[in-house]
Amino acid sequence: MRLSVIGCGYVGLVTGACLAEAGHEVMCTDVDAGRIAKLKAGEVPIYEHHLDKILASAGKNGKISYTADGGEAIRFGEAIFICVGTPPRNDGSADLSAIDYVAQQIAAEARSPKLVVEKSTVPARTGIELQRALTAYSRGGNAFRVASNPEFLREGTAVEDFFHPDRIVVGVEDPAAGEQLREIYRPILERKFSCPVHNGKCPDTHKAEFLVTTISSAELIKHASNSFLALKISYANVLADLCEQIGANVEEVTHAIGLDPRIGTQFLKAGLGFGGFCFPKDIQAFISLAATVGVDFEILKAAERVNKQRIERFLGKINKALWVVKGKRVAVLGLAFKANTDDIRFAPALEVIRRLAEEGAEIHATDPEALEKAKKQFPQVHFHEDPYKALESAHAALVCTEWDVYKKLDWDRAAKVMARKLVIDGRNLYSPEKMKQLGFEYVSFGRE
Ligand code: UGA
Repeated sequence: MRLSVIGCGYVGLVTGACLAEAGHEVMCTDVDAGRIAKLKAGEVPIYEHHLDKILASAGKNGKISYTADGGEAIRFGEAIFICVGTPPRNDGSADLSAIDYVAQQIAAEARSPKLVVEKSTVPARTGIELQRALTAYSRGGNAFRVASNPEFLREGTAVEDFFHPDRIVVGVEDPAAGEQLREIYRPILERKFSCPVHNGKCPDTHKAEFLVTTISSAELIKHASNSFLALKISYANVLADLCEQIGANVEEVTHAIGLDPRIGTQFLKAGLGFGGFCFPKDIQAFISLAATVGVDFEILKAAERVNKQRIERFLGKINKALWVVKGKRVAVLGLAFKANTDDIRFAPALEVIRRLAEEGAEIHATDPEALEKAKKQFPQVHFHEDPYKALESAHAALVCTEWDVYKKLDWDRAAKVMARKLVIDGRNLYSPEKMKQLGFEYVSFGRE
């Protein structure tokens, strides 16, 4: 099928590339002409595992193309995936102006009936407004059907998540739209694609469920899903605080409770809390949506509050350990909001750096992928590609991201170059016993 993708950010590029790899013909567009020029030249503007590979193969097979002309892209596809940004406004609600702009463009440029699919994360009822806007702007000329098809892709494993989803949710108002989306996802549902992640040896996981719901339910499912995961993390973080006071070990507690399948072991990792461009903004947008219809989502407000306090707790641990922060040299290990991405949006590490810089610390930071992005924001920070260089003469090492390279760091080697053998671990990466054996003062979350 011929498909259009509007917006070439994380969601748009992964969606476009994977649907092209699954056999469809895809045309992508973006208001950022520079980004389109890069894509045409074979450059991949974001770091996402396997994405370069599938963009290259889809390009070679003529399955994916790019245009800076939004009209051309809109006319190309039978279905149009809207993948534009919905950033938070000051009050926490989602800014839907990009969606509105695209609706006007689709209405003006389409020359045939279109299935318009919201893929961007949007608050419930956006689909209804989108349908209204398309009808109003098109002046009755063209038939548009609207659907919601939320994505559940994690940054870093987005390509794998796309090809091996737990569920594909489509919110529609008429069965034909549901059938068209089922056709689009048929290669994924029937596993008829050559998997770029597992090279033909995909694990025998259960097949994805194709769920057809109303548009409002589909929109709600996305926010409800992310908010629940955020809630789980905050719960684990409060448990960690409690464990510290009581003298228990949060890893033992969360592991044991997680073995109950009703709870599950994932997303119970205590530490610096959640960041990124999804959880913090989605939880706010969900609270804000609930408030507009008179529902007080108190439980999510608490989860958000707990998450903000994580930075204070981390800084408290740093202050307690260092006594005086001013003039101390600190090594920050990890800038990205989580491992396997170069994304630093709402990354806890950035707030930690900002606060320590205010207190007069000398900051040496390192990250396997996010250095370039962070450099632009912090001219006063010293950046190093080599973690051992960042650790040189440091009075403390602060672990902010759960990268594998830090899990495997040679602390014996680090000890030789550090000014003081102190590690303050915001991601609970190491065993307190082992760090003690290595002669380190070691501070983490919920395991004191
Ligand atoms: C999240 C969801 O997991 C995806 O399903 C969803 O599609 C995506 O948002 C989205 O809305 O686009 P992502 O933001 O890529 O994906 O990151 P996660 O892997 O969910 O991690 C979020 C944050 O929580 C990270 O800062 C991570 O370090 C933190 N985290 C995660 C914890 O602090 N503890 C945990 O146990 C797990």
